[in-house]
Amino acid sequence: MGCMRKKMPVHLKIEEWDLLDKLVEVILKNVEGCVVEIGLGTSTVILNKYAVQNNKKHYCCDISMTKCKFARKLLNTIVFEMSSEEFLTKFDDSPIAIAFLDGSHKFDIVKKEADFLLPRMSKYGVLFLHDTFIPEKRSSISEVFKLRQLLENDSSFQVFTFPFTAAQYGLTMVMKRLECYR
Ligand SMILES: C[S@@+](CC[C@H](N)C(=O)[O-])C[C@H]1O[C@@H](n2cnc3c(N)ncnc32)[C@H](O)[C@@H]1O
Repeated sequence: MGCMRKKMPVHLKIEEWDLLDKLVEVILKNVEGCVVEIGLGTSTVILNKYAVQNNKKHYCCDISMTKCKFARKLLNTIVFEMSSEEFLTKFDDSPIAIAFLDGSHKFDIVKKEADFLLPRMSKYGVLFLHDTFIPEKRSSISEVFKLRQLLENDSSFQVFTFPFTAAQYGLTMVMKRLECYR
């Protein structure tokens, strides 16, 4: 694992995913379903560690050949080297315990991803969005804050954003309100 980490093209340092590391450990111990990750990198190492520990499938999607090559070396991964748009036409597993979105940061694309994945989430499953904070500083790079704002105004979801993690770009957690489960 140490050697794979060295070769992987790094976006964020592993310690910048400190909160994700804690939450994923607890969520995957308790929540039924698979892991879906769009936008691979350091986050893949964390999600995969707990997917393997809890014997869960880890679906990985990225357009980058290098990132997918890395993900294929890990246990429990099912790798889709393609755009998320194409991935969503092929993915047919459910329920989902964790969905992690850090691929395209365009609003239309990330909204399509969330609209597809949220109805497939387990009870207590969590959708994570990266790069959702400080719109005035990051709006030219990331439009994901617009999806956060949309979900915050939707009474079907509980939404919580913590700014001081993941390079301080904001990590948002989205969970369906319990009354929305039949
Ligand atoms: C910000 S990086 C991901 C960082 C990663 N989560 C980490 O922790 O290091 C974004 C990734 O999304 C991929 N990507 C961009 N647009 C995409 C799309 N439409 N579908 C799938 N992957 C995409 C890029 O190739 C890149 O690897």
